[in-house]
Amino acid sequence: MTATEIRSAFLDFFREKAHKIVPSAPIVNKDDPSLMFTNAGMNQFKDYFLGDRVPQQRRVADTQKCMRVSGKHNDLDDVGRDGTHHTMFEMLGNWSFGDYFKDEAIAWSWELLTDRFGIDPERLYATVFEGAPEEGIPTDDEAKNFWLRYLPEDRILYGNKKDNFWEMGETGPCGPCTEIHVDTRSAEERAQSPGRDGVNVDGSGVVEIWNNVFIQFNRKADGSLVNLPERHVDTGMGFERLTMVLQDKSATYDTDIFTPILAEIERLTGKSYGGSYAPAAKSDMAMRVVADHLRAVAFTIADGQLPGSGGAGYVVRRILRRAVRYGYSFLDQQQPFIHKLMPVLVREMGQAFPELARQEEQITRIIQSEERSFLQTLENGLQRFAALDTDGNTIAGQDAFELYDTFGFPIDLTRLLAEERGLTVDEAGFTAALQEQKARSRKDAAKEVGDWHVLTDEPSVFIGYDVLSDSGARITKYRTVKVKDKPQYQLVLDRTPFYGESGGQAGDRGLIRVGEERLEVIDTQKENDLTVHVVDKLPADPQADVYTAVTPEERQAVSNNHTAAHLLHAALHEVLGEHAVQKGQDVRAGKLRFDFSHFERPTDQELERIELLVNAKIRENIPLLERRDVPIEEARKSGAMMLFGEKYGDTVRIITFDEDFSSELCGGTHVKHTGEVGLFKITSESALAAGVRRLEAVTALKAEWYVRGRLAALREVQELVKGANPSEAVRSLQDDNRALKKELDKLQAERAGDLKSDLQQSFEDIGGVNFLATQVPLNDAAAIKNLAFQLTGEIENAFVLLASESDGKALLTLAISKGLTDGDGALNAGAMIRGLAKHIRGGGGGQPFFATAGGKEPGGIPAVLSHARELVAGRE
Ligand code: ALA
Repeated sequence: MTATEIRSAFLDFFREKAHKIVPSAPIVNKDDPSLMFTNAGMNQFKDYFLGDRVPQQRRVADTQKCMRVSGKHNDLDDVGRDGTHHTMFEMLGNWSFGDYFKDEAIAWSWELLTDRFGIDPERLYATVFEGAPEEGIPTDDEAKNFWLRYLPEDRILYGNKKDNFWEMGETGPCGPCTEIHVDTRSAEERAQSPGRDGVNVDGSGVVEIWNNVFIQFNRKADGSLVNLPERHVDTGMGFERLTMVLQDKSATYDTDIFTPILAEIERLTGKSYGGSYAPAAKSDMAMRVVADHLRAVAFTIADGQLPGSGGAGYVVRRILRRAVRYGYSFLDQQQPFIHKLMPVLVREMGQAFPELARQEEQITRIIQSEERSFLQTLENGLQRFAALDTDGNTIAGQDAFELYDTFGFPIDLTRLLAEERGLTVDEAGFTAALQEQKARSRKDAAKEVGDWHVLTDEPSVFIGYDVLSDSGARITKYRTVKVKDKPQYQLVLDRTPFYGESGGQAGDRGLIRVGEERLEVIDTQKENDLTVHVVDKLPADPQADVYTAVTPEERQAVSNNHTAAHLLHAALHEVLGEHAVQKGQDVRAGKLRFDFSHFERPTDQELERIELLVNAKIRENIPLLERRDVPIEEARKSGAMMLFGEKYGDTVRIITFDEDFSSELCGGTHVKHTGEVGLFKITSESALAAGVRRLEAVTALKAEWYVRGRLAALREVQELVKGANPSEAVRSLQDDNRALKKELDKLQAERAGDLKSDLQQSFEDIGGVNFLATQVPLNDAAAIKNLAFQLTGEIENAFVLLASESDGKALLTLAISKGLTDGDGALNAGAMIRGLAKHIRGGGGGQPFFATAGGKEPGGIPAVLSHARELVAGRE
């Protein structure tokens, strides 16, 4: 079976078992602060398990794009070393939300693997949870008994908490699990030792392929477990590993998921892939790293996460840099090459994941530009390396750390470079510096999320599309979160008009009254489906009736900007083309920022047309057409704008302003008529990343003030030029200025010439030194320097100190003929100027033959001149 066939067969199997097949959620997690990237198929269903949302179907299955590069599940360091770990991978999964449990889950796993996929039952092993008495969880004999229907007892093993109790993160849904392992070894190897010895042993050839989790608990922040309202099934099977088993390979990299990519890497680098492991040839490892990381980076960019300097963007950048480094060090790639692998990736995966194919050009450009800039950093690092002070034969730990931190050199690259030059690295010092930095950043990021105090289990309903205030709501849960030791208080209500920050729209602010107590809502956030109100204190009586009121002016300003963003998006499509799709936005009361794909700077004319079009649509005063609960298929057919990387449910909300102009899937708030937006004004345009542009704009009152501000500035200019046409007047002033400056330069040069001949007469012999110290009537530092050099050039053994004054500041220029700066009694301009500068309350420096100083006290110039005379006279 090809990889594509395997994927379909899995989904078909569960479709036959009455599961609904759902799309993969985006790989980048936007609405769950506890998780940056989707790390398991169950993430998108977390709310169902916790009881915060009611599922529409009780059985679903999918293939989910996952990434395990941070937090609890992190496989980054294993990638490349072995043949089964990946950063980005596909997880095939089936779920029961309070429906079937262990019996069916195990039966179907067995049926699919042995019957449908034809895996030899003799090669299969199962593990079940041994129990955790300290947490009151018994041995999972139930699962074991189900397994005994299919497997002899000696192929069922008990496993500990690490292997057989699955948790999503530090907190959240969890439960005991049963894992299925396949013995992939040859018949001879299998005859030699039983497969059970290799279960959960890295590199043994017995590989875990499927995990069936029986979710029953929620792990709380205080470490305790609480029972969930219902029992669920959450399974995850690594697609790449399953394919490896079914294609009878011993590494995922040998399946048709990876071989085309590896072949292209071979072609581009001219190296051949040997498939070696433990010990792995560096070039083999590098090729695997590049192949794996290419997928991780391409998929995250496709889901809207650009590489950047913070948060998830930084993680993506680091993954790409890791690939660049491996290519650089072990595949001799000193030029960007990873982006050249996009065509093969799109050919192989573009059908299953159209978001890749549709954005191929953009992803390619972004990867290329990241590669280029990192290679430049590496080059700079090499220069820094060459300039290191290596104190004998060792590179100091701090230097190795600087190479790592500033120039992205991993320690093994530094080690490699050091070895080539016969040096060693103080690795202990490096590790210490690294630990110190980690401890610092942990402290900076410290956030302690307390557990929810749950009053009732009701889901929270958002009523803020229709009303801005409401009474009679109830608090359902509250908690305290400590951010860097500062407490922050959070509330959830059974219904609320407050919009929680999401989809690039800021959260509402306003007021909540609990009984008679007034709380200020500082911000509203979204956590999956929960609307979380951040308030200034916790209420004394959380059971009391709640009155809520969003600040209406702020909501109006945000809605103005959100509607303007839709009009802008549509205008970009009309003026620049269909490719100009939204890549991000930040819509708040005082701000509208909109990022979109486009490959060059829009011209001034294009920007003008965009602005005119948006304003025309505002003046048309188009009424809002809001459709809620539209089935997703219907929305797709209607042609409404959908974005890659957004998580859409079965039903969606469509916001339309003129059927023929702007229709978008959107959860945000909008004005009732476009006329409310008043005025739209673009304030800046810039490049955000390769192929991504950023526009900033203002609307309504802010736009009015912006225009007024610009007009006022213009009026000031107009007054200065006394009613003349301002741009003509300024241009003519600039012309005059240029002409005057030229004239002035000429006069200064003439004066310097006269001055020079005067000065040549003023030298005095002091003990064999031709001494000159005087104040000159010049103020151009370059002209003075020039004069000093001419004098020392023409007169032997000259000491020339020229002092000058301009704008209340003193300038000293000291030049000494080369003959006086060496040997006995040598004079040193750089050293002397520092002493002289004290008289003018200033400082300076330079070289032995030339130095300058500036100071705030021109009154000290005579003292400088006489001090200089003393210095020369007192020369030994
Ligand atoms: N959520 C389980 C896992 O990721 C299935 O292993």
